[in-house]
Amino acid sequence: MDSSEFLEFLVSRCSVREYDGREIPGADLTFILDCASTAPSAGNLEAWDVVVVDGEEEQERMAEAAYGQEHVAKASLLLVVCANYVRSMSRYGDRGVLFAIEDATIACTYMMLAAHARRLHTCWVGSFQDEEVRQLLDLPSHARPVAILCIGVGASPGSYTERMPVVEHVHYQSW
Ligand SMILES: Cc1cc2nc3c(=O)[nH]c(=O)nc-3n(C[C@H](O)[C@H](O)[C@H](O)COP(=O)(O)O)c2cc1C
Repeated sequence: MDSSEFLEFLVSRCSVREYDGREIPGADLTFILDCASTAPSAGNLEAWDVVVVDGEEEQERMAEAAYGQEHVAKASLLLVVCANYVRSMSRYGDRGVLFAIEDATIACTYMMLAAHARRLHTCWVGSFQDEEVRQLLDLPSHARPVAILCIGVGASPGSYTERMPVVEHVHYQSW
């Protein structure tokens, strides 16, 4: 893949919130998880974990925890990506909290792009009640849910959302 193909790959991804209900083949899930495991992480500690959630009732409950977001209930499956504080804090102390959140965020980004590479559609959901999710998934206290990645086959193609000009993000030498 050359650099223009890489940019086209990135630009052609967009959040999709309506799915056709098709099941995700096991090979696609394996691919997505294998890709996530290549993500960089602080000290290579891979301070992230993921809970795979599917099933009508399970997803309905997750959707309630996500303030009623319908696409959480309707996705073919959910990947709930968690920061694993213990894994990172055992080496980095307090800084490990930030590192674990970063590790989980990068892993989730890889999952999202891996799904895109398999022509699946995703929506990253970050608005949810931590405690509800924690209870529903029986998360240990050292795991913090960072993102719910909805995955499915889009019922209709999404569309690109405009970005602010990149120069507005960039500062040279100092802010
Ligand atoms: C940290 C984070 C949290 C998000 N939370 C939600 C969410 O709770 N619900 C939702 O529908 N989309 C959510 N999104 C998706 C964004 O709305 C979306 O990525 C953004 O509008 C850009 O659109 P695009 O993904 O189509 O490029 C979230 C994305 C990120 C990165």
